[in-house]
Amino acid sequence: MSLKSITLFLCLVYSFFETSFSAYLAPIAVDFATRQYTISIYIKTPPQPTNLLFDLGASFSWVDCTHNYSSSTYKSIPCSSSLCNSLGSHACSNCFRLPGPGCSNDSCILFPVNSVTRRSTMANALTDWLSLPHTDGRNPGQLGAIPEFVFSCSKKKSLLKGLVKGVVGVAGLDRSNFSLSAQISNTLSSPNLFALCLSGSPSAPGLVFLGTRGPYYFYPQIDLSKYLIYTPLLSNPLRSSLEIYRYPSAEYFIGLTSIKVNGKVVQFDLTLLNIDANGFGGTKLSTVTPYTMLHSTIFKALTNAFVNESSALNLTMTEPVKPFSVCYNADDVRDTSLGPAAVTIDLVMQSDDVFWRIFGSNSMVRIVREGIDVWCLGFLDGGANMRTALVIGGHQMEDNLLQFDLDNNRLGFSSSVLAHGTMCANFNFTTNSNLG
Ligand SMILES: *[C@@H]1O[C@H](CO)[C@@H](O)[C@H](O)[C@H]1NC(C)=O
Ligand SMILES: *[C@@H]1O[C@H](CO)[C@@H](O)[C@H](O)[C@H]1NC(C)=O
Ligand SMILES: *[C@@H]1O[C@H](CO)[C@@H](O)[C@H](O)[C@H]1NC(C)=O
Ligand SMILES: *[C@@H]1O[C@H](CO)[C@@H](O)[C@H](O)[C@H]1NC(C)=O
Ligand SMILES: *[C@@H]1O[C@H](CO)[C@@H](O)[C@H](O)[C@H]1NC(C)=O
Ligand SMILES: *[C@@H]1O[C@H](CO)[C@@H](O)[C@H](O)[C@H]1NC(C)=O
Repeated sequence: MSLKSITLFLCLVYSFFETSFSAYLAPIAVDFATRQYTISIYIKTPPQPTNLLFDLGASFSWVDCTHNYSSSTYKSIPCSSSLCNSLGSHACSNCFRLPGPGCSNDSCILFPVNSVTRRSTMANALTDWLSLPHTDGRNPGQLGAIPEFVFSCSKKKSLLKGLVKGVVGVAGLDRSNFSLSAQISNTLSSPNLFALCLSGSPSAPGLVFLGTRGPYYFYPQIDLSKYLIYTPLLSNPLRSSLEIYRYPSAEYFIGLTSIKVNGKVVQFDLTLLNIDANGFGGTKLSTVTPYTMLHSTIFKALTNAFVNESSALNLTMTEPVKPFSVCYNADDVRDTSLGPAAVTIDLVMQSDDVFWRIFGSNSMVRIVREGIDVWCLGFLDGGANMRTALVIGGHQMEDNLLQFDLDNNRLGFSSSVLAHGTMCANFNFTTNSNLG
């Protein structure tokens, strides 16, 4: 071999490794009527586009299998296998009792849960290929496959009730071992982390980056990974008070220490922000909660402070429009590059200089219907018996970059990316076929 051909060979090997990215992406669309967020992935062979509800609080994924399941790569999971055991399955079945893909004489059972209605059913677990586009953080590339992706295959059509049209199941992205992110990371030895950018625009989707710490480029050439600040992910010792759920929660809890409105600390019983030994209190993030829900005590203090601090803006308060409690005549509200002009709400974390700042685009909700045009404060009263005192919902996460870093047990957050001159709908979805 000449020196030249060795160099060429090395370059080819090098470029092979350069382009075999372990980073993936998936678009996430929003249905504004329900604020359900839908991730688009591919399952089966050949790859079938599949839309699933994106749920930060679900452990594993499930897909509706009431139509003929056609794929050349699916496999059943024997109930006696170590995989079934590590899935925490509590039941076995067979094809007579539970026919369908993934059934065998000894089939592993997983109970899929509809994240919206909380209905559940018994279903076979199986593995099949999951395919997603590779990414360099700028564009999608070719599809790459994660073989042996584990999910549950529901044979009950009614389990889809409550999900928006075209959605055929749920993608689970909590902190457990069989979440979409953990399975990608375990298969490819990539970082167990994902970065979520939910679109606040009805016309174009946002996305999730999987297995990459960045860059995350958005038009015009803005790398949002540079704007992240971090707060630890906390554990919650008890998922629920119900006997069958007496194990740690795999949801994303963060350590809020205070709330500020217009820079001033809101006065309420701060012990509500601590997670107690029974799993009560604290703050978590939820993509199946449309608007942030607060314990009544916090809700009252926050809305009073917001109304009081807003008095300098000369707004006219109107009859509240349900489900909201504080609304202003839209004619009085100025538009800014960060949405409607509104006093800021800061979620303060482990220290005074680590806070998630919420501007008008995330705090306010526009409601236009016959004879009504108002901006309402987009937070809801969750009652005095809320298990988790503060549940940060979808509207407050839109146009924010959130990096869920399971390897380092921390959440990276950017606050509104509108402040950095871009938005989550600004990712360039043109496929670069040279990638991956
Ligand atoms: C499903 O498969 C069965 C048997 O192969 C066939 O009879 C039936 O028509 C198929 N149904 C659909 C909806 O494709
Ligand atoms: C299932 O069990 C029955 C009865 O024991 C047996 O006849 C059959 O061959 C088994 N099928 C498979 C796929 O193992
Ligand atoms: C998750 O996986 C890790 C490493 O594979 C293992 O140590 C841990 O016990 C698993 N957790 C559960 C709840 O199965
Ligand atoms: C209401 O706002 C005024 C002026 O900003 C402030 O001095 C006062 O402390 C506020 N009261 C409450 C209850 O927040
Ligand atoms: C609010 O109204 C007062 C009195 O009319 C006026 O002096 C002040 O400039 C107004 N403030 C804003 C923010 O428009
Ligand atoms: C989007 O990406 C494609 C492929 O890399 C590129 O040709 C195009 O110029 C990009 N568009 C914008 C607006 O940056």
